[in-house]
Amino acid sequence: MIIAIDGPAASGKGTLGKRLAAHFGLRHLDTGLLYRAVAHALVVKGAKLDDPTIAEAAARTLDVAQLDEAKLKARGMAEPASIVSAIPQVRAALVDLQRNFAAVAPGAVLDGRDIGTVILPDADVKIYVDATPQVRARRRATEFRAKGENVDEALILDDICRRDERDRSRTVAPLVPAKDAHVLDTSDLDVEAAFAAAVAIVEAARR
Ligand code: DC
Repeated sequence: MIIAIDGPAASGKGTLGKRLAAHFGLRHLDTGLLYRAVAHALVVKGAKLDDPTIAEAAARTLDVAQLDEAKLKARGMAEPASIVSAIPQVRAALVDLQRNFAAVAPGAVLDGRDIGTVILPDADVKIYVDATPQVRARRRATEFRAKGENVDEALILDDICRRDERDRSRTVAPLVPAKDAHVLDTSDLDVEAAFAAAVAIVEAARR
């Protein structure tokens, strides 16, 4: 079984993806980490984030097994990841890697922005996870505070809105729900309720 999860920044799709994968015995790939890793490689090199040649080379040499989630999930990597993800050559360089990951038995859950629309259009189940920007900013702030970071929720909201705008308006693979996606609005749901709703969507699609 292949499950495609898409949604805007901090919508909870990563948490859902991880939990759905564990629940159904599938592998999980948070595809945002791929774009974050490309951005990180450019930052380390001191390269410009919109340099398509260096960015594509970084994307082509990515090793999924070597992704350092703690480092890549740092707050400062979100905006750079959004910038490199708008480069068509970067997106093209990461397509096969994602499809190959999904193709390995027993199947996988991939979460990102273009999984149901571009990467895995034939996925068995597609879920588009959404929540209001305010709710997403609150959740992100809570997450960072739990890690001991002193964050300003209003600034996080600004970051989220700017990133959403860029991710939705880019020319290649913009963030948009697939026509056959089940939209799951988690604005009024806690983690458990969102998970239960997602499991119900997958079970119904299986039947
Ligand atoms: O999900 P995330 O916040 O880790 O993603 C970081 C950035 O990567 C996001 O702003 C847009 C980009 N991204 C993308 O363009 N396509 C994906 N499938 C996943 C992430």
